[in-house]
Amino acid sequence: MSDFEGLRALVTGGASGIGRATAELLAARGARVAVLDLDPAGVPEPLLGYAADVTDDESVRRAVAAAAADLGGLDVLVNNAGIGAQGTVEDNDDETWHRVLDVNVVGMVRTARAALPHLRRSAHAAIVNTCSVAATAGLPQRALYSASKGAVLSLTLAMAADHVREGIRVNCVNPGTVDTPWVGRLLDAAADPAAERAALEARQPAGRLVSAAEVAGAIAHLASPSSGATTGTALAVDGGMQGLRLRPAGR
Ligand SMILES: NC(=O)c1ccc[n+]([C@@H]2O[C@H](COP(=O)([O-])OP(=O)(O)OC[C@H]3O[C@@H](n4cnc5c(N)ncnc54)[C@H](O)[C@@H]3O)[C@@H](O)[C@H]2O)c1
Repeated sequence: MSDFEGLRALVTGGASGIGRATAELLAARGARVAVLDLDPAGVPEPLLGYAADVTDDESVRRAVAAAAADLGGLDVLVNNAGIGAQGTVEDNDDETWHRVLDVNVVGMVRTARAALPHLRRSAHAAIVNTCSVAATAGLPQRALYSASKGAVLSLTLAMAADHVREGIRVNCVNPGTVDTPWVGRLLDAAADPAAERAALEARQPAGRLVSAAEVAGAIAHLASPSSGATTGTALAVDGGMQGLRLRPAGR
């Protein structure tokens, strides 16, 4: 496919996992792609790397301006940088709450704010936010993370309404558990990594983890000019975790 031919995309958190797979897929489909990340050093060509911290407004503005200048504009913003948090409301202090909301929610606001003037000049402008099944299902031990992704879901809808008449579409993807370095770190930290992985796989009706490439495919679908009538939606990429209720196997 070459539906992104001639388009320019910026992917935050594009040095790893879902962001990396998305940046590579958009480039394979014809886009020129900039990656904004804390550490973009390992980003392979033809991707362009820009160092920035989404919690630092000045660094975001600088990186977005540099990317837009180098690419000659921006058509697609993928707001994907994010961090995890575990525990109930009793387990994280205020500082951790502010930190995770700053990265996962306000980080998307900062990049969108910096990118919107460029997106307004595009004939095919789209923003895709990486949300999570944690926004739509109650998961144990994820109070702070879920609150951050619930905010991303609502932010996606509000932004879609604000910018629809400017020709800028805003959607999000809701992945289940995805086999990325992030989940690898979670498994490594578990008392029994094999049992933890099996529990995560069993939670998804498809019986396996989602791949980063599968989430990238959904992000590209929403960002593509061929989805020009799609805005204000959340696309689940979760092996059926949110929508399906199976009976026990064999019964
Ligand atoms: N892996 C999953 O199971 C899963 C499920 C649902 C949603 N998500 C979401 O997908 C997104 C990507 O997750 P992943 O699994 O690919 O993680 P990852 O850890 O593999 O990649 C995240 C990237 O974001 C970058 N990043 C983190 N903080 C940043 C900051 N302050 N400024 C700039 N860049 C920063 C990291 O350097 C890293 O390159 C996150 O928003 C996450 O919440 C992941």
